[in-house]
Amino acid sequence: MKRKPFIAANWKMHKSIEEGISFFNSFHEKVKNISDRETGLCVPYTMLYEIGKLKKHLNSPIALGAENMHFEEQGAFTGEISHDMLLECGVDYVIIGHSERRHVFGETDEVLNKKMHKLQSKNQMKAIFCIGELLEEREAGKTNEVLRRQMKQGLDGITKEFASTMVVAYEPVWAIGTGVSATKDDAVNAITFVRKELNELYDEETAQKIRIQYGGSVKPNNIHEYMDSEEIDGALVGGAALKVDSFVQVLTKW
Ligand code: 13P
Repeated sequence: MKRKPFIAANWKMHKSIEEGISFFNSFHEKVKNISDRETGLCVPYTMLYEIGKLKKHLNSPIALGAENMHFEEQGAFTGEISHDMLLECGVDYVIIGHSERRHVFGETDEVLNKKMHKLQSKNQMKAIFCIGELLEEREAGKTNEVLRRQMKQGLDGITKEFASTMVVAYEPVWAIGTGVSATKDDAVNAITFVRKELNELYDEETAQKIRIQYGGSVKPNNIHEYMDSEEIDGALVGGAALKVDSFVQVLTKW
């Protein structure tokens, strides 16, 4: 099965609303006619509404993503953001379980599973479900074990119908923001393992539908290595997605 490549930006805690809007306008102009690959911008909450409106106004093919979401419907959860609040802004994708949420903010597999269930029960936005091992886990030969646990627990009770709409981002924690990207072989090996596990958790047909991205120090000068591989369906890009020209190159230089 042919999966459409998906190159997404994760801006993390960067950019003012004005900068976000200006980026969106010029990025849209450069990519609006590209149809053989999908692109998306996962942006801070403050600019979701404005960018959602702009996207609609321009009838832009760029997907809009949020960087996180709470699993409760509403209530006394100071500082959190709900599913419906994101949907109201025109969000298409929600990043679930980014390594910074897991390791800086202590989100567990159980919490992430609840978030996946919220997305599944509403079935209106798609997940970019992130997994990846720490350096010490890799050095201890535990990469596959960690990836298996993150998938088994994070996706517990998630149906094959919903799973087939999600994107999995394999982001080894040691490669994020460090400039030390995974070698093509490391990325291909981990992603091949992830698809094998998805095959076990679901079935061959579902596993073949799910797009799996690589993330971690992806740049204009290394994207082609990953996209040359049949196994890798795209990238989740941090630092290199903060400037229009650099992100356009990541999207097109392969
Ligand atoms: P960098 O591309 O800056 O390494 O960040 C990757 C990332 O965390 C994307 O979610």
